[in-house]
Amino acid sequence: MKLTKEILDKVRNIEGFPLGKDEDIIALSDPPYYTACPNPFIGEFIEKYGTSYDESTDEYNVEPYTADVSEGKNDPIYNAHSYHTKVPHKAIMRYILHYTKPGDIVFDGFCGTGMTGVAAAMCENPDEDFKIKLEQEARQEGKTIEWGARRAVLCDLSPAATFIAYNYNTPVD
Ligand SMILES: C[S@@+](CC[C@H](N)C(=O)[O-])C[C@H]1O[C@@H](n2cnc3c(N)ncnc32)[C@H](O)[C@@H]1O
Repeated sequence: MKLTKEILDKVRNIEGFPLGKDEDIIALSDPPYYTACPNPFIGEFIEKYGTSYDESTDEYNVEPYTADVSEGKNDPIYNAHSYHTKVPHKAIMRYILHYTKPGDIVFDGFCGTGMTGVAAAMCENPDEDFKIKLEQEARQEGKTIEWGARRAVLCDLSPAATFIAYNYNTPVD
């Protein structure tokens, strides 16, 4: 998929559109997954993976997550790139696993380095020790965990942050 000046025109008037040159925005981007500006392809993604909310049929009913959450800041993934108020992905995983099901869309509009995206993906393939720990905790509370990736939509006002988030969240062979 290509990002062109004409496609950029569709999102150019959105508040927060970067002040940079079109050529630079296009060069930084990897459409449709990442654009260094409001993503013109996001509608298609939501149409494909989202589900419309219908109050009459909706059965979502999850109790608030109330446990204290404390995860260390020495994970190699966490340390790959520093950022202010960066959150360890394992802390975010606890909330995602509690509130969502595999395949759900998770939105972080202030994503910084994109740790919410890392957490959403790691729900498919968690560290073995962390998986055992969470399953033990869940068993004690009579709950089950639904492992499996969630789909993250990540945004940030800072193009630098989104670029870091993109690199954190792009699968590497
Ligand atoms: C506290 S940081 C998030 C860090 C993130 N939790 C992580 O783990 O890397 C907050 C982010 O919000 C972004 N931000 C501030 N105002 C914003 C706005 N109006 N729209 C989108 N992002 C915004 C900042 O650029 C910053 O990256």
